[in-house]
Amino acid sequence: MSFSLIGTGSALPKTIQTNSDLTAFLDTSHDWILSRTGIESRHICIEESILDIALSASVNALENADIQPKDLDLIICPTLGGDTITPSLACLIQEKLGATCPAFDINAACSGFVYGLDLADAYLSRGKPMKILIIAVDAMSKLVDWTDRSTAVLFADGAGAAVITNGNDLKSIYISAVGNQHALCIPWAKGNHPGLEKQDLAIPYLTMDGPEVYRFAVAAICDDLKRVAKEAGIRLEDLDFIVPHQANLRIIESAAKRLKIPMGKFVLGLQNTGNTSAASVPLALDDLNRSGKLKPGMLIAMTAFGGGLTTGACVLEWSKEA
Ligand SMILES: CC(C)(COP(=O)(O)OP(=O)(O)OC[C@H]1O[C@@H](n2cnc3c(N)ncnc32)[C@H](O)[C@@H]1OP(=O)(O)O)[C@@H](O)C(=O)NCCC(=O)NCCS
Repeated sequence: MSFSLIGTGSALPKTIQTNSDLTAFLDTSHDWILSRTGIESRHICIEESILDIALSASVNALENADIQPKDLDLIICPTLGGDTITPSLACLIQEKLGATCPAFDINAACSGFVYGLDLADAYLSRGKPMKILIIAVDAMSKLVDWTDRSTAVLFADGAGAAVITNGNDLKSIYISAVGNQHALCIPWAKGNHPGLEKQDLAIPYLTMDGPEVYRFAVAAICDDLKRVAKEAGIRLEDLDFIVPHQANLRIIESAAKRLKIPMGKFVLGLQNTGNTSAASVPLALDDLNRSGKLKPGMLIAMTAFGGGLTTGACVLEWSKEA
């Protein structure tokens, strides 16, 4: 059981919305958002489709891995949903890239990238040589209610990708789910059957119990990181970098304090991205990969939590040369 990560990529939509921009239509303030979340600005798909940013991140990752689309054996797309329910986003990425491999979406909300790594690892454990693109993308701006200040200020859009293949980077991985519709939910539209009541026809948006998710998130980061470190046979202090889900700076600070891990080891990008759901971990991973700070032999952990409720974490020993 293992794989090597040979390339990363990411993409953000062009339109930047600052906290101050939000005050034009929400009863909120830059200071409230910054002090409660650490977020200063976010990127929103206005000109781009979801497919556009997914494609850019995929192309970046393939270039970084130095492989061609035709070399891919599988495309896995962790997402809450693309521009269409069907075709899946993964199938449209396959078409636009010019790849010929199987392609499908998975939904584990913000934990989707780690779920995707776990799934890819299972494919690779068959022993056949494979190159797998995991392209995690979400456009939360299309799923939140822009009149609800308690959720709209938190979420945003982005895409993050990784190419993995047979190898020995992965030291441990863990995914979990605890079904819970109350904590975080985005319902489907109910359709327009004439038997439905008029009030059922409204487009539904994300609802969330913020404090419940907050408590769940801190516990998940702590429990999952301890578990994957133990399974990898390392101590938490051996980790060089931790790439956490970029939901809220306070969540990360609380977990860091409980685990006694210096904040300097956590890769942070949420100030300028907000919570991009499934894209958040691979976006931060791509920043780290391109920062020049990673050296072969370094130990990195990823940790994510999100709707479902789901969680996921893993430990990798980085092998890619800069
Ligand atoms: C949502 C969250 C930022 C709220 O922070 P908080 O510190 O719990 O906020 P509080 O409960 O102390 O404050 C809520 C108050 O702020 C107000 N408020 C909420 N959003 C606001 C906003 N954008 N601007 C100004 N005030 C706001 C509320 O109306 C409430 O006011 P009241 O006390 O008068 O009723 C926090 O709970 C959180 O981050 N939860 C986790 C969410 C998450 O990560 N979700 C994604 C999971 S993948």
